[in-house]
Amino acid sequence: MARKRVAVLISGRGSNMRALIKAARTKNYPASIALVISNEPAAEGLALARKAGIPALAIDHRRYGKDREAFERAMQAELERHAIDLVCLAGFMRLLTPWFVGRWHGRLLNIHPALLPSFKGLDTHARALAAGVKIHGATVHFVVPEMDSGPIIAQAAVPVYETDTAETLAARVLKLEHRIYPLALKLVALGRVRVVDGRCVIAGSRPPKGALMVPQQS
Ligand code: GRF
Repeated sequence: MARKRVAVLISGRGSNMRALIKAARTKNYPASIALVISNEPAAEGLALARKAGIPALAIDHRRYGKDREAFERAMQAELERHAIDLVCLAGFMRLLTPWFVGRWHGRLLNIHPALLPSFKGLDTHARALAAGVKIHGATVHFVVPEMDSGPIIAQAAVPVYETDTAETLAARVLKLEHRIYPLALKLVALGRVRVVDGRCVIAGSRPPKGALMVPQQS
């Protein structure tokens, strides 16, 4: 089966993008990272991607003023030009319109630094600490027009320690993000993820062991 061509959309440092690039270079990975787009021309991740030999473009949303769709049409043109099959949001800090989300229905993934549906939006680690939760984590999900709400593909959890600050917790969660995003993309690229009644069903997965709620390979 041909490897899926993936675009990663970023706005900043790009550590999840880097994890996807690294995974995609392993033997038999079913996807290749064919394009990186940042809405922030100064995003550190752009330089990282170029160093890895991947076409990396800045499409500055500010050039399009309030016209979100015009910005998205510019991205769409590049996605089409590079024959992209799947799009991964990785720290991409723009809300997407229903037009764009609709075009990529079932082919647009996001990673969120919390166990959805808890702690949608920003500052998830500080809010998790303030809420006193004992478990926190990360979620990879399909994108739907409503923010941080689509069907969940993979999640992983970490304990929250009494000594944690938002920074220490974020660092622990980020390590998990770098594990589950490549795994979730792999499952989607292999066609093993189906959405049934708004929930993901993963073909051939068996119940995960322990607290790490990552679908296991069978
Ligand atoms: C990650 O925590 C991701 O979950 C969130 O934004 C952050 C991006 O970090 N959506 P990076 O740019 O991938 O390093």
